[in-house]
Amino acid sequence: MKALILSGGKGTRLRPLTHTGAKQLVPVANKPILWYGIESIVAAGITDIGIIISPETGEEVKSKTGNGERFGANITYILQDKPAGLAHAVKIARPFLDSAPFVMYLGDNLIQNELGEFLNNFKTQNMDALILLRPVPNPTAFGVAEVDEQGRVLHLVEKPKVPPSNLALVGIYFFANSIQSAIDRIQPSARGELEITDAIQNLIDHQKHVEARQIMGWWLDTGKKDDLLEANQIILDAYLKSANAGEVDAQSQLSGRVEIGSGSKLINCTVRGPVTIGEDCHLENCFIGPYSSIADQVTLIDVDLEHSVVLQSAKVIGIHQRIVDSVIGQRAYVHTAPQRPKALRFLIGDDSQIAVV
Ligand code: G1P
Repeated sequence: MKALILSGGKGTRLRPLTHTGAKQLVPVANKPILWYGIESIVAAGITDIGIIISPETGEEVKSKTGNGERFGANITYILQDKPAGLAHAVKIARPFLDSAPFVMYLGDNLIQNELGEFLNNFKTQNMDALILLRPVPNPTAFGVAEVDEQGRVLHLVEKPKVPPSNLALVGIYFFANSIQSAIDRIQPSARGELEITDAIQNLIDHQKHVEARQIMGWWLDTGKKDDLLEANQIILDAYLKSANAGEVDAQSQLSGRVEIGSGSKLINCTVRGPVTIGEDCHLENCFIGPYSSIADQVTLIDVDLEHSVVLQSAKVIGIHQRIVDSVIGQRAYVHTAPQRPKALRFLIGDDSQIAVV
């Protein structure tokens, strides 16, 4: 069994955070979403992993993620030179997959369930494909399945205008090598892509063994919805453990689960977990409230912040109103200016969103 993780694409839905970077590397609780996927694949016992990368962001994914050693896996990078669809990615991965069955994993997806049980079902029941479905409020944004009373898949359709159900296809699929012949039989969709949804439908049309399992636990699809903050909250709730490798002075108070990376200094701060603070940060006279993730090399001085994500090397200084529900991008600088007139002065990038009261 192998794994194929898709980590290409341009991440247009997460702009401005992904103008320069890969959407799969956007950190959730200070760790790229892609890495949670790799870890859950390795936890299911699969260590031979191919990662599909794009010309735009491939180098960044490769240099950050490495050869797999840190995960106990062996990673092979496969370049998809154009965004020609998920099924196209499976097609170009043929030399890597070498006819082995595989789990295909969209690098910006993460589910609460472990993969092991699905993998077992898939293997022991000799399926051609096992798909995961989850009820969603907005099925038109996904691949959607129509199932009968026994849960058998009758029909799949990609981004339907009139959805046949509220069951979305989760971006985690288990395939036998027979998916490759199905891919050879399909044509590009209206958006010009070889859709994996159409390839699975083709297996169904050829009476192949396709099954679905419904999941009810959380499903994060960070590349899609603007729900980075929600993902951050869920991951901090699920995984964060207290650990302090930094320096916290006697005036500071930590409560709840708080993780502090090495080289970070907290001076006169109150931190109420769950909160993760990366390495080499400087926090002074701050209140950091629950569900906040502060990445490496961040400076926060005289700041009151909660339920927010602050990315690497950002600086926030002297803001005397509480900052909530905010995402502050890499190297962003938010501060009060001494000059008169007292006024707001912005240098705001494309696609930014600022709410002022
Ligand atoms: C892709 C699939 C879609 C699936 C979704 C899950 O959509 O085509 O069927 O429901 O991933 O994340 P895309 O992200 O390409 O819009």
